[in-house]
Amino acid sequence: MSDRRILVTSALPYANGNIHIGHLVEYIQTDVWVRFQKLRGENCRYFCADDTHGAAITISANKKGISEEEFIAEVKKAHLEDFGGFDIAFDNYGSTNSPQTKRFCNFIWEKIREADLVSEREIEQLYDPVAGRFLADRFVRGACPKCGKKEQYGDSCEGCGAVYSPTELIDPKSVLSGATPELRKSKHLFIEVEKARDFLQDWINNSGALQPEIANYLKAQFLSDELWPWDISRPAPYFGFEIPDFPGNYWYVWYDAPIGYIGSTCEWCEKNGEKVEDWWNDPKTEIHHFIGKDITYFHTLFWPTSLNAAGFNLPTKVHIHGFLTVDGEKMSKSRGTFILARTYLKHLDPSYLRYFFSSKTNSHVDDLDLNLEEMELKVNADLVGVVVNLASRTAKFAHELGLSETYPDDGGLFAEGASKSDEIAASYEACDYGKAIRTILECGYRANQYIENVAPWNLKKEWGKLEKDPNASEEDRAAAKKKLQDAVTVGLNLFRQIVVYLSPILPDLARKTEELLNTKITSWNDAQTFLVGTPVNEYKHMMTRVSKEGIQAMIEESKETLKSEASENAEAASASKWDDSAQPLVDEPLSETITIDDFMKVDLRVGRIIEAEQVKEARKLLKLKVSLGGTETRQIFAGIKAAYPEPEKLVGRLIVFVANLAPRQMKFGLSEGMVVAAGPGGPDVFLTSPDEGAQPGQRLH
Ligand code: MSP
Ligand code: ZN
Repeated sequence: MSDRRILVTSALPYANGNIHIGHLVEYIQTDVWVRFQKLRGENCRYFCADDTHGAAITISANKKGISEEEFIAEVKKAHLEDFGGFDIAFDNYGSTNSPQTKRFCNFIWEKIREADLVSEREIEQLYDPVAGRFLADRFVRGACPKCGKKEQYGDSCEGCGAVYSPTELIDPKSVLSGATPELRKSKHLFIEVEKARDFLQDWINNSGALQPEIANYLKAQFLSDELWPWDISRPAPYFGFEIPDFPGNYWYVWYDAPIGYIGSTCEWCEKNGEKVEDWWNDPKTEIHHFIGKDITYFHTLFWPTSLNAAGFNLPTKVHIHGFLTVDGEKMSKSRGTFILARTYLKHLDPSYLRYFFSSKTNSHVDDLDLNLEEMELKVNADLVGVVVNLASRTAKFAHELGLSETYPDDGGLFAEGASKSDEIAASYEACDYGKAIRTILECGYRANQYIENVAPWNLKKEWGKLEKDPNASEEDRAAAKKKLQDAVTVGLNLFRQIVVYLSPILPDLARKTEELLNTKITSWNDAQTFLVGTPVNEYKHMMTRVSKEGIQAMIEESKETLKSEASENAEAASASKWDDSAQPLVDEPLSETITIDDFMKVDLRVGRIIEAEQVKEARKLLKLKVSLGGTETRQIFAGIKAAYPEPEKLVGRLIVFVANLAPRQMKFGLSEGMVVAAGPGGPDVFLTSPDEGAQPGQRLH
């Protein structure tokens, strides 16, 4: 093989959601390509990571009452399980919230500064006065300024594809609070992409990195006009990396997200004694990004601009795929076609989806439809009916006899299959897996025809007859046995050849074949060499037919997931469903009735815990610093040490506290309020938090 060094990435999935079958279009496509390269003996590595920064992460973490770090750790674990379930084999799966990514963010930033690509501008941005934060594009919805389609996000229109800024939306509303956002001024840093025009133009036209339809789209949509400066900073609060030379501001998540590709590479290099420069700076290394069409401009305008400024390799190829539809329509929660990876895995074999998606994969950007009935028919016909059938009809005889010592005359079938190697490889290389599969299936049809013709089950009978026939000679018996052995030897070799070709798509079938034939598949060239003289293990089922029931159950469960989410609030309202104990009220009966005036004497406020530490000398106490917004803070000693053994995890959390309680001098300092919590005490203390949208300083009425 050649000595290519190939770095491959898939887009980094957002850490604020589950992996669904739409994502899997991409991760399966990439994984197949990587497995193919590795089988060819190339030095190919597959890097990915969770995309962990941005406002959405903070909001999801707050909702669960945990820190952002805890939240992204949980999500990463879930993502890895989902990917593992589909046999997606990363060489490294990192996180953008890593020291490695941060280091490269800083480095690239310096270079971008040196290249004089950064400008500072005051901008007006939508601000949610109720939630108290500037609104990321995705947190504003309104009507598209170009086509008028309602309920569009602040960055782009799903109807007409227009890209715009959230301030252009008609009748915008904050997704956080429903409030009408107001415009506020703040200073932001921008990357002047227009200054990189010559470079971009050249790269888009001449590098060969882009599919022709993508290059045309970029020329028509972007290069035809002045390129917008790219707003790269966000004011605090923001979960991300602070910009070293612009304190109080953070890099916009899309600045550091692709740098996560380098961060993940770097993590792997550190673990494997490799040098990250070999992978990102040596021009001999190929870089292949696999992404969906929705994130095209980040990867084809901003990303190459950053890489170029920093002196890194530019992408050799950006492989862009279309979007998944299910049964001809956008994935839909109500129809049960918004299918999570984990829901799929409960009901169906991942090989089905890997095969079906691959059969639909080509080098173009078209959308891809998962027609579930078509998947059922295709998998049953091609995989069960053609491929696995070769093994199931021959293996049990071969188990009895072993494979022949020399490869029998097969009329040139194996040689014909072997001669398809380059053609199939070229299809894989070009991401045209559909074509690869068609060529492989041709071999499968011929092999089945062969089995049909030689009919090993009849050969077995004939041999059996001779064994019982007292007049038959030993030579006759041996010849009949050999005939059967030769037939199944051919059948299983043709089967294995096909499995080698399919193994990038069907690693599970490859593993089962290795087991059956006691021989590993380690190289693409295994399709060129026969197996002879080896024992064959007992045949175990390699793949079952797709069942309609499985598909139906998966759809039903996908509907249910939604139902439970939608009705969660309604169900919570009817307490009987939850079977709550009567004990708490018994333990502490309700107090005597008070007037509203009595209640109003207690000034309950929303506060944000900004510091939390254990008071070493006190058995029960945590020392909290609570912000009331602005510069107003209170010190509170709270008896919650046993319940919250890791106080640092409380930092950032909103709480409710009594703000007008007379301050109390304690042994360890002054306590200026009381945190509202439930529970009998000890480890069973539960802080209360207001819903998302509440602001520190607000009073509870
Ligand atoms: N976090 C960004 C990518 C940052 S890359 C430096 C992101 N994440 S995502 O989770 O929304 O999507 C991850 C990948 O999955 C993207 O390439 C996206 O196009 C792809 N897909 C997500 N939904 C999809 C479908 N329904 N169909 C096909 N691909 C889809 O974007
Ligand atoms: Zn529109």
